[in-house]
Amino acid sequence: MKALIIGNGGREHALAWKIKQSPLVKKVFVAPGNGGTDLDERIENIDIAVNDINKLVLFAKKEKIDLTIIGPEVPLSEGIVDIFIENKLKVFGPRKLAAQLESSKDFAKSFMERHKIPTAKYKTFTNIKDAHRYIKEEGAPIVIKADGLAAGKGVVVAMTVQEALLAVDSMLEDNLFGDAGARVVIEEFLTGEEVSFIVICDGKSILPLESSQDHKRLLDSDLGPNTGGMGAYSPAPIITPELHRKIMSEVIEPTTEGMKKDGIEFTGFLYAGLMIDKNNDIKTLEFNCRMGDPETQPILFRLKSDLFEILLAAANRNISNYKAEWDQGSAITVVIAAENYPNQPKINDEIFNHNHNNNNNDNCFIFHAGTVLKNNKIYSAGGRVLGVTAKGNSLKNAQEHVYNLVKNISFKGMQYRTDIAQKALKKSSERS
Ligand code: AMP
Ligand code: GLY
Repeated sequence: MKALIIGNGGREHALAWKIKQSPLVKKVFVAPGNGGTDLDERIENIDIAVNDINKLVLFAKKEKIDLTIIGPEVPLSEGIVDIFIENKLKVFGPRKLAAQLESSKDFAKSFMERHKIPTAKYKTFTNIKDAHRYIKEEGAPIVIKADGLAAGKGVVVAMTVQEALLAVDSMLEDNLFGDAGARVVIEEFLTGEEVSFIVICDGKSILPLESSQDHKRLLDSDLGPNTGGMGAYSPAPIITPELHRKIMSEVIEPTTEGMKKDGIEFTGFLYAGLMIDKNNDIKTLEFNCRMGDPETQPILFRLKSDLFEILLAAANRNISNYKAEWDQGSAITVVIAAENYPNQPKINDEIFNHNHNNNNNDNCFIFHAGTVLKNNKIYSAGGRVLGVTAKGNSLKNAQEHVYNLVKNISFKGMQYRTDIAQKALKKSSERS
């Protein structure tokens, strides 16, 4: 069979890497892909942008693609799944109405309120004066969120009232995010530990993936600006079997049930960003309607089952008979980013030692993100450049392994965090 993956990040390289391992699959295409997918002989890059939906449909028809998997949120929010279904093409992802769980924070918050899914207290504003008044009443810290998609930059965790007022002004007055910021959600500040919990939905049943934890800040010790994610590990040690059940019954099941009640069926990956406090109380920070990046890399690195078979079954509304098998160790991804990321990343630097992927070592892999292949050389082409991934029988072991690999890679101005998974290791040593 033939698979098509839409996207060009580390997440899509990991999806393509996993899917090409399926005995059912003879060809994997990625549109548009990156330098890493280009290097792989069993994967073919197709030069079509993620939101050029008509061209993608034509390509899928011409190649008789058996399953298309959508990586990023933008084409989902533009209705790519609806259009593929109208064209009788098999596709895995949520329809446009369901994708609003990610594409509108206001939609997600009112949905959670309506269906009693635990989340932070909030109000939505389009008027600056009203928003200012609310911030002054509530005080800081407080969180300001652009309603629409803003490539991970639309959330300001304001530690002072002044910072919160400025964030609102930048969205409602200066149109920093255009239409995406024409409405703002203002939300109670939550504390605790963040976890990414991702499940596969076929519209009827749910198949949970293993948990993971991302590192959103640029610098060690969770300092510096927010990014798309600088590293992740799986599983998240904080997720005990009991907490897993609680997340399913308090957040995931009410979400898919609530969507059904609202007349919208959810199919695709459902990603709940959760805050877990000291008492193990759960609050939902956000929903995404896709896999996380970089969470996908360590999660799929531990998945033993055939992902293509599972996603094809999900697209056929038939996952209830499937279970996912996992490697019992831990996996870690360390993101190597370009100079000046996340502001104006510098691109076009040659990357050395990026490819340890042909040495038949199943315990490590370097996923590419913002890279391009030119004359047999790999150059940086985006903010997050590589996702160096390793697994081990413990988190500590995986961490040693991954940083040994990172040390070999070089390109001008590269930056990475040196403490991915350190907090989890410290906590587990405190517990023992
Ligand atoms: P979001 O895109 O909504 O997940 O927000 C991005 C990041 O901002 C999250 O991963 C959290 O680190 C932080 N954040 C979002 N909402 C809150 C909140 N209510 N309280 C504290 N931090 C938050
Ligand atoms: N790593 C966070 C996200 O994919 O949204």
